[in-house]
Amino acid sequence: MNFAKKILCIGAGYVGGPTMAVIAAKCPQYKVTVVDVNPARIAAWNSDALPIYEPGLSDVVKQARGRNLFFSTEIDAAIDEAEIIFVSVNTPTKSFGEGAGKAADLQYWERTARNIVKVSKGDKIIIEKSTLPVRTAEAMSSILNANEKGIHFEVLSNPEFLAEGTAIADLNNPDRVLIGSQLTPEGLKARDQVVEIYANWVPRERIVTSNVWSAELSKLVANAFLAQRISSINSISELCEKTEADVTEVSRTIGMDSRIGSRFLVSSVGFGGSCFKKDILNLVYICRSYGLTEVADYWESVVEMNEHQKRRFVKNMLRAMFNTVAGKRIALFGFAFKADTGDTRESPAIDVAIQLVKEQAKVVISDPKALDNAKIDLASCIDNVEFVKDPYEAAKGAHAIAVMTEWKDYKGLDYGKIYAGMERPAFIFDGRNVLDHKALFEMGFNVFPLGQPALKHLKTV
Ligand code: NAD
Ligand code: UGA
Repeated sequence: MNFAKKILCIGAGYVGGPTMAVIAAKCPQYKVTVVDVNPARIAAWNSDALPIYEPGLSDVVKQARGRNLFFSTEIDAAIDEAEIIFVSVNTPTKSFGEGAGKAADLQYWERTARNIVKVSKGDKIIIEKSTLPVRTAEAMSSILNANEKGIHFEVLSNPEFLAEGTAIADLNNPDRVLIGSQLTPEGLKARDQVVEIYANWVPRERIVTSNVWSAELSKLVANAFLAQRISSINSISELCEKTEADVTEVSRTIGMDSRIGSRFLVSSVGFGGSCFKKDILNLVYICRSYGLTEVADYWESVVEMNEHQKRRFVKNMLRAMFNTVAGKRIALFGFAFKADTGDTRESPAIDVAIQLVKEQAKVVISDPKALDNAKIDLASCIDNVEFVKDPYEAAKGAHAIAVMTEWKDYKGLDYGKIYAGMERPAFIFDGRNVLDHKALFEMGFNVFPLGQPALKHLKTV
């Protein structure tokens, strides 16, 4: 079949897979290929057991796979035939050398760029889909255009704003699509070609164009602002616990101010996910490299507050449970970094579980989708942790339950039955404020919400 465009995405992860599946579903006239160095991942994309869990994803994949959506490990052949290449490889925090623990590790991106140069026989548009430090496009353009074949590569930035758990809805109906380009005639021409792809289903007024540096930086700043709101409300949750104010009432009230807005004001045990911490640390590193100490310190405090929130959650548990959890069975309800995903990258539950194991608790992890990842994350202390999918089983004989993820299922459990099987006194620490605290208290639980007065039967805690 003759396709109007041949699009390639390098990197079949949480972003590459869903993003390309939606482009293919919306644009049957384009051939969309997704490649990866990981053959197991590609095999999973070609099977019924997709490598990631995302509501609605499997329907979208089924609609287009084999028609105009292809998953493959034949990277060189796919580069050769593509006119437009999205690069969506991982850009984790660097774990070695200069900038370790802060800067973005760009080795996967650079390797990809060098391979594109090696294999290409004609001009191509290369799109940064991965989240990258501002001005990466300059370095990439230098590497790509240093070729001696006379081939021109136009580098664009089209950062992705989808959130896990709602990826398909976000891609179908994005708040905006951002396309950054050089403002040269070649840059603008390339930009228009990418605008044309999204215009197949995104209203034009939501397709925003900018210069390439603004696009790169806007992505880091969007994540920094979102995370900052969570750290801000989490800082207030601690003050609420001291003053008998209720953080849910405070967020509701401030969120009704249209200048503030209501979203991302839900206090939690901490934000997780693969990107918030990494992207803020990257922003901090960039600021420091320009000598902007105060700016760097300001953003770094967002991450510090998040670490504090996780630590103080465990401290609160310890204090409530008579200053020791040694030998006590504690069930963690949820391990994913948020509901509706099996992803556990940077999940606050990892730190909470490890701290509890250090306190010699018998930790039991329950989660509907994330147990396989949890086993990998807790490999260092796996002998001291149990993994039990069924929350009723997990809570049997436990002294405490701690809610780590806001899975809907946890609201509807029969807590009377759970209470009956637990040790006395029984504790619930609601790290997401999703349960009916009053009802639990009336059943006999000692209930510790976040940023709200605890409901206790015990006078001593
Ligand atoms: P991921 O780790 O799930 O996927 C990246 C994939 O790239 C992996 O499957 C890896 O095998 C592959 N890869 C690495 N080097 C390769 C190479 N040289 N050739 C071919 N494949 C290669 O990562 P992700 O979560 O999809 O994130 C990708 C990028 O998107 C990151 O920069 C991230 O910051 C950004 N981002 C992620 C999200 C999210 O929700 N996860 C949202 C927006 C932006
Ligand atoms: C986030 C952004 O929302 C996306 O726009 C962005 O594309 C993505 O990062 C990325 O660059 O990777 P994601 O991490 O998938 O998406 O999920 P979020 O919904 O942002 O949640 C992040 C964390 O914050 C979760 O642990 C969540 O539970 C927590 N959170 C969120 C709160 O604690 N309170 C809130 O009010 C909202």
